[in-house]
Amino acid sequence: MVDVETVEHDVLVIGAGGAGLRAAIEAAGSGISVGLVCKSLLGKAHTVMAEGGMAAAMANVDERDSWKTHFADTMRGGYYLNNWRMAQIHAQQAPDRVRELEAWGAVFDRTAAGKIMQRNFGGHAHPRLAHVGDRTGLEMIRTLQDHGVHQGIDVHMEFTITCLLKDGDRIAGAFGYSRELGKFILFKAKAVVMATGGIGRAYKITSNSWEYTGDGQTIAYDVGADLIDMEFVQFHPTGMVWPPSVKGILVTEGVRGEGGILKNSNGERFMFGDIPDNYKSSTADTPQEGWRYVTKTDKDARRPPELLTRDHVARCIRREVREGRGSPHGGVFLDIAWIKEKIQNSEEHIKKKLPSMYHQFKELAGIDITKEPMEVGPTTHYTMGGIRVDGETQMTAVPGLFAAGECAAGLHGANRLGGNSLSDLVVFGKLAGEYAAAFAKEHGSVSVNDDDVNQAGKDALAPLDSSSATEAGGAYQVQYDLQDLMQEKVGIVRIEEELLEAIDSIKELKKRAATVSAPGNRQYNPGWHTAIDLRNLLTVSEAVARSATMRKESRGAHTREDFPDKDDSYSEFNHVVRKGPDGEMLVIREAISELPPELIQIIEDHK
Ligand code: FUM
Repeated sequence: MVDVETVEHDVLVIGAGGAGLRAAIEAAGSGISVGLVCKSLLGKAHTVMAEGGMAAAMANVDERDSWKTHFADTMRGGYYLNNWRMAQIHAQQAPDRVRELEAWGAVFDRTAAGKIMQRNFGGHAHPRLAHVGDRTGLEMIRTLQDHGVHQGIDVHMEFTITCLLKDGDRIAGAFGYSRELGKFILFKAKAVVMATGGIGRAYKITSNSWEYTGDGQTIAYDVGADLIDMEFVQFHPTGMVWPPSVKGILVTEGVRGEGGILKNSNGERFMFGDIPDNYKSSTADTPQEGWRYVTKTDKDARRPPELLTRDHVARCIRREVREGRGSPHGGVFLDIAWIKEKIQNSEEHIKKKLPSMYHQFKELAGIDITKEPMEVGPTTHYTMGGIRVDGETQMTAVPGLFAAGECAAGLHGANRLGGNSLSDLVVFGKLAGEYAAAFAKEHGSVSVNDDDVNQAGKDALAPLDSSSATEAGGAYQVQYDLQDLMQEKVGIVRIEEELLEAIDSIKELKKRAATVSAPGNRQYNPGWHTAIDLRNLLTVSEAVARSATMRKESRGAHTREDFPDKDDSYSEFNHVVRKGPDGEMLVIREAISELPPELIQIIEDHK
């Protein structure tokens, strides 16, 4: 029997970003015992990297905004593959979640009239992002953490969860180890909420932090949960491209929301050359009109083409670079300094609205963004795909297992609008916590099988046994090779031949990963952590590549060079990834549930 400490909670929340914290607060509020597991330290969640704001139709800056417009924008941005019920709940409840954060102490930027300020962002018809300069995610985490520590939540910091455990069909808890000392821990729980974030570390160029290795998606899939929409990986148009050590770090869309424009090496505002039909205005929009905005029905909304959806802007930047009109370090130019032509004291204004960007470029690249343009290029940012959940309760196919935030899927369809992530975290984090608590109250105790715990311990220890090791570079080399592969063959633009090559290469990488060994012992051993993360990275990478092969069209964040157009026959279903009876990965087509007539009408009214 492996040596393991056992801890028991009614609800266990795995992941302590915005969704996990909000779920834990909600569950604890119902008077039950709640454990919150962080892979890192509490407060060091990837949510802090969400900069530009949180989308909520509060109508503080443009009174015409409403949940209906937000719903319609989200569905259009997601190319109608979204779980419509989640899109409806999200649009309806986001304003309350913003007000709740304010009541818990979040200090949002203000309008002159003292209301919460909202800024423009890509794909949103009105200024909709409540924000705190360009540090909105940081303020969200600070607020949730301050509020959460008074709710009696037990926080378990620096633990990696390696697998989930079941009691019959039902979830029974999770097994993991402390990252510091390598000691095993068994969490028994009547309900578990997965809130572990994304998969960005499967790619070479990413805005994601080291924790984002697809853990929640993989361990939920391993116990029978479905994954959905895995082909849709979002490449944020603007990451840093120089210097190499910081390549991929996010340059917030807030820069463009505050008037930043994109130019190629010829000085052209290339985004004016390629405006998709469904975003074109009835009058001509030209660069000569300055920052005149594009919208079909509402010219007062004043939207620049730089604020078209991320999938489109990222592809345009890639095209400029490939066709030889890029910046010296392989990106394009993003210029906010130009607003001095429009705004007095523009330097102060930029520093106030974009303080992190100012410091990031000054300190990391030696660029003063109040005076010079930045160099930017696409970076892997977000996964629309993830664990399939019920739109109301956030429960997965496994009774007692819930998911929320980036590791869950449905809300965003084929492409997420900027700012819909922070609101997603708190809207669905709250619901997951509420329904997980209700589940725990309605169901009796769980028991965990000793054999399952022993097996979990053996699997975790395998990389420390060097007797069969063949991988010279250890786990790191396998991860680098996977990142190169995903970047090259399963990236912004995909093609059948390369996707099939990627699937074959992932099989080979899996074999190598099975024999990696981590020199040293269980204490403070990052090689061991990487070897364990690799299993998750390889599973989610395979799910992305297989789903991408099945979708023979281009839609949202999924672009196929061999199928460049949207194909309406793909509008009717999602791709669902499920573990087959022999452990093989299956990708199945499942019909999307029909939109009710009143929601169809809302979409029609907002076209
Ligand atoms: O550009 C940004 O600030 C990112 C926001 C988001 O992904 O929602």
